Amino acid sequence: MKTLSIIVLSFLVSLRVSSQQREDKCMSCHEVIGDNVAEMYKQDVHAHKGISCSGCHGGDPHMEEMEQAMAVEKGYIGVPKGDDISTVCAKCHSNAAIMVKEYNSILSRNQLEILQLSVHGKLSVSGKERIVQCTTCHGVHGIVSVKSPSSPVFPTHVPKTCAKCHSDAIFMRAYNPALPVDQLEKYHTSVHGMLNAKGDHKPAECVSCHGSHDIRSAKDAKSAVYPTNLPATCAKCHSNARYMKEYKIPSDQFKKYSVSVHGKALLEKGDIGAPACNDCHGNHAAVPPGTESISQVCGTCHSLNASLFASSPHKKAFDQKKLPECETCHGYHEIVSATDELLGVSPDAVCSRCHKENQNQKGFIVAKKMRELIDSLESSDRIATLLVSDAEQKGMEVSEARFKLRDVRQARLQSRTLVHSFNLEKFHEVLSNGLTITGVVKSQGQAAIDEYYFRRWGLGIATLIITVVAVSLYVTIRRIEKRQTRQE
Ligand code: HEC
Ligand code: HEC
Ligand code: HEC
Ligand code: HEC
Ligand code: HEC
Ligand code: HEC
Ligand code: HEC
Ligand code: HEC
Ligand code: HEC
Ligand code: HEC
Ligand code: HEC
Repeated sequence: MKTLSIIVLSFLVSLRVSSQQREDKCMSCHEVIGDNVAEMYKQDVHAHKGISCSGCHGGDPHMEEMEQAMAVEKGYIGVPKGDDISTVCAKCHSNAAIMVKEYNSILSRNQLEILQLSVHGKLSVSGKERIVQCTTCHGVHGIVSVKSPSSPVFPTHVPKTCAKCHSDAIFMRAYNPALPVDQLEKYHTSVHGMLNAKGDHKPAECVSCHGSHDIRSAKDAKSAVYPTNLPATCAKCHSNARYMKEYKIPSDQFKKYSVSVHGKALLEKGDIGAPACNDCHGNHAAVPPGTESISQVCGTCHSLNASLFASSPHKKAFDQKKLPECETCHGYHEIVSATDELLGVSPDAVCSRCHKENQNQKGFIVAKKMRELIDSLESSDRIATLLVSDAEQKGMEVSEARFKLRDVRQARLQSRTLVHSFNLEKFHEVLSNGLTITGVVKSQGQAAIDEYYFRRWGLGIATLIITVVAVSLYVTIRRIEKRQTRQE
């Protein structure tokens, strides 16, 4: 019994001794001296993992005495400055042996390497260090999980964290005077920004569009906001029906956009002249364009269509009925190639949605006429093209007529745009120009073909005459020869 209690007692003593040994002397002394840092560090995720002050600052946390604990020989580095700060963090965060084996952590492990390649990895104006360090975004001594609502990189705090620099005109000017500093201001006017300010962490903030450690210049083809990458960036959320469930908007924008004439041009052909989501919604002020401003949005690229529409009879009519301008006929995310089928009074035509024989009749008549004109130009163009090709195959010189066909094509293109004047006279003018040219081309083509046949006939007759002459000459010679032999 006695021996047992001795064993237990000595075990307890040894426990106490080892826990004393394990006690973090850096922490306890700094607490005693009333260091604010020690107070803050209690909330830190590293403290919760049992990491001592020495985890970053070096030194020996088991030493009571300050001189021994904070001795350079024990690896004490003092207060890191500049790039040394991130190097300290990377000591663990870029090291699998430490993170996985010592701390059983599944966090990703290449933040520093990625950061160095990012736009923020460039040298600061001092030339001595990178623009940002890990602590610029995560803080120091009170670092918490990025999923904690008190983290400076939690979605509702991100805008403030980035704007520290990006809304500071004087600071930013030293780097790139051409870079706007209005991102936060504009962001606050967007649907994303307004909800974020109310504490909703789901709508996009700076990091959801730009990335975190891997932020690149918007002009860098690898940037998440580079035109060809942007639709996928927005789709991360907007195509995720589960994520968007609590909001009362559809989640089909990307699906529709990617098969639209714009989406195909941008994503399949890499044509960065075609609009990505932000060309219509704005970069930081992302809102759906209002009914009144849609034609302005489309008009930044299709300026002629927009100005024709603005002076057309539809402008007033659509404004009164609060109909969105281009969208009413073309849609917005699902815009497809416009064809002649849209025009006219057949059931597929857009005009017949509002204009019927007995309803808004003037438009009905105009729509019908416009389509007839376009059809007749098209068939006339087809015939003219056939004639010219035929003549070319027959080896006739018709380059001038071939050249004029380009003007016909031009007139057809122009007329498709001029539909938007919804004005029959203007439309007629362009089309009749086209029709006149097809008339000329047709007659030139026909003339060349006629000429070909004329020449062929001419050649035939000439050959015939020559043959007849030759044969009769031959016969005559034979006759003379025969006569001569008989005379002999
Ligand atoms: C016995 C008390 C004591 C212990 C143990 C101790 N410190 Fe300190 N430490 C201090 C005091 C006091 C200061 C302030 C002295 C000063 O300003 O020069 C200080 C300053 C510091 C500073 C700031 C230095 C600077 O240049 O501003 C750091 C960093 C630091 N300690 C880290 C540590 C670490 C890491 C450990 C453990 C390995 C540790 N300390 C252990 C008392 C202690
Ligand atoms: C995760 C790494 C890390 C840990 C752990 C850490 N520090 Fe620091 N500490 C830093 C970095 C980085 C700086 C420099 C911050 C800067 O200059 O922005 C710093 C700066 C300091 C400073 C000087 C500047 C200031 O903020 O007053 C003191 C003092 C200090 N640390 C003490 C401590 C003490 C005491 C502990 C433990 C209670 C501790 N640190 C734990 C990384 C750490
Ligand atoms: C001694 C090793 C070590 C050092 C040095 C270190 N960390 Fe950590 N860090 C960890 C460990 C371990 C975790 C917790 C991992 C886990 O929960 O899976 C962590 C967690 C974090 C987290 C929270 C991640 C999350 O969302 O769960 C952040 C942010 C972080 N560290 C930033 C820093 C910064 C900034 C520095 C430098 C000032 C730094 N760390 C230095 C080991 C270290
Ligand atoms: C420009 C701001 C910024 C800088 C600089 C930055 N981070 Fe982060 N970090 C973030 C944001 C935002 C998140 C959360 C979103 C995410 O996971 O990408 C994050 C997430 C993390 C996480 C947890 C998620 C993960 O990646 O596994 C760790 C750990 C981390 N950072 C460490 C670091 C370290 C180490 C450095 C320095 C080498 C650093 N960070 C520099 C903004 C930053
Ligand atoms: C310490 C200040 C600082 C912080 C904090 C900061 N940035 Fe920057 N950022 C800069 C500077 C300076 C540049 C310009 C670099 C250059 O072009 O030379 C820059 C460049 C950028 C660019 C590229 C601009 C372009 O198209 O050329 C983007 C995007 C960006 N930052 C986004 C962010 C986001 C998002 C955050 C927050 C997670 C953030 N920044 C936090 C200083 C900062
Ligand atoms: C909804 C997505 C989205 C959000 C949220 C967002 N950005 Fe942007 N950001 C963009 C796009 C798109 C561009 C421009 C790309 C281009 O010019 O083609 C851009 C450009 C930038 C630029 C380059 C200069 C400029 O203004 O054109 C900086 C810097 C920048 N953003 C910082 C931020 C900051 C800081 C925040 C948070 C306050 C933020 N962004 C939020 C999408 C976003
Ligand atoms: C992090 C997820 C996320 C990303 C990334 C994101 N959004 Fe959003 N967006 C949301 C949420 C959530 C809403 C709020 C829905 C609502 O309006 O109630 C929203 C709202 C919108 C709205 C307003 C819809 C309405 O009528 O109320 C538009 C427009 C929009 N986003 C466009 C974009 C564009 C363009 C991009 C890419 C440049 C983008 N979003 C990237 C999550 C995101
Ligand atoms: C050609 C211009 C254009 C492009 C490109 C575009 N949008 Fe839109 N978007 C609109 C218009 C116009 C509306 C408003 C429709 C209305 O309210 O009548 C809209 C509405 C929205 C809405 C509100 C909900 C809804 O579906 O009506 C969201 C969210 C949205 N767009 C996201 C996106 C995303 C994400 C992309 C890229 C994949 C994108 N948009 C590409 C013009 C565009
Ligand atoms: C009342 C219906 C209607 C409205 C409103 C309308 N369009 Fe059209 N649009 C058409 C029809 C019909 C065609 C096809 C003409 C054809 O190919 O015969 C067309 C063709 C087009 C074309 C292809 C021809 C070309 O010009 O290159 C573009 C681009 C176009 N529209 C843009 C717009 C824009 C931008 C707006 C808003 C300012 C708009 N449309 C408003 C009916 C409309
Ligand atoms: C950033 C410039 C840009 C914006 C903004 C834009 N478009 Fe386009 N649009 C294009 C380009 C480029 C094409 C040609 C794509 C291709 O086929 O290669 C095109 C093609 C079209 C076509 C098919 C034309 C044809 O010949 O059949 C229609 C219709 C159209 N756009 C309507 C719209 C409408 C409506 C809007 C506004 C809601 C709009 N666009 C906004 C650039 C733009
Ligand atoms: C969304 C309904 C709608 C569509 C689609 C539509 N219109 Fe109209 N249109 C109207 C309204 C409303 C008016 C004004 C009432 C009126 O004068 O009949 C109007 C007026 C007109 C006018 C002027 C009539 C006048 O009195 O001077 C013409 C011409 C016209 N439309 C042609 C067309 C053509 C061509 C199309 C197809 C490309 C078309 N509209 C498609 C609703 C529409």
